[in-house]
Amino acid sequence: MATETPDREHTPTNETRDPDDSQYAAHLERSRTVWDRWSDYYTMSETDLEPLREAAIDRLELQPGDRVLEIGCGPGVNFERVRSEIGEQGELVAVDYSPEMIAKARARIDHHGWENVEVRRADATTAEFDDPFDAAIATLSLSVMPDIHRAVETVSQSLVPDTTFVVVDVRPVPDGPARVLNPFLWRFLRWYANWNPDDDVVDALATVFDTHELVDSSLAGTLYTVVCEKER
Ligand SMILES: C[S@@+](CC[C@H](N)C(=O)[O-])C[C@H]1O[C@@H](n2cnc3c(N)ncnc32)[C@H](O)[C@@H]1O
Repeated sequence: MATETPDREHTPTNETRDPDDSQYAAHLERSRTVWDRWSDYYTMSETDLEPLREAAIDRLELQPGDRVLEIGCGPGVNFERVRSEIGEQGELVAVDYSPEMIAKARARIDHHGWENVEVRRADATTAEFDDPFDAAIATLSLSVMPDIHRAVETVSQSLVPDTTFVVVDVRPVPDGPARVLNPFLWRFLRWYANWNPDDDVVDALATVFDTHELVDSSLAGTLYTVVCEKER
């Protein structure tokens, strides 16, 4: 687990971590416990945030036959929409670390009989893929990874040139008086989601991708969507 912070506002360090180090391993193990637990209570999150997820998928501008990567797929809340865009010739490869989330995602695939949607249990930060992807998406997952910068690099390396990565995520209040809420928000996110306070998702995207644009932001800036392009 990442080091606990005091009451003052936390400053992300964006340091890359070694997957063999104990802090990395503890964060990953806590993610498994937390997300295995929440896998039984995911319906509300799935319904309430559906419009936001669908808008994010639209921004990928997927074409029939595209090969798409999803990281931190949870119980597969994005599968139906992505699959409707890529058709039967496309392919969706989705990764999650929680065995219970993977079981729910597989049940969804089996229920629909989707033959071109594959889920893999893996740490998305270090996952390796044989073939590159035409697009990638991460909804509400990057900020809970043990090394966000490295997870973003993994996604970038898995994409062909001229492709888009869309990210929906949460963060503390970025500016304005509502920042006073951040110490509470930070604690809630740590407890609820095993959120990683030591990396900043938007900074990581800006560092790794050729372009990035914050295209949507709500709830005092805490819920946001970023569209990134990999040019070469
Ligand atoms: C808030 S849920 C998001 C699920 C889904 N993408 C959505 O939009 O609702 C975060 C997911 O990230 C997964 N996760 C956390 N750390 C991970 C890691 N290192 N590698 C892959 N998945 C991870 C969790 O197991 C969980 O399913």
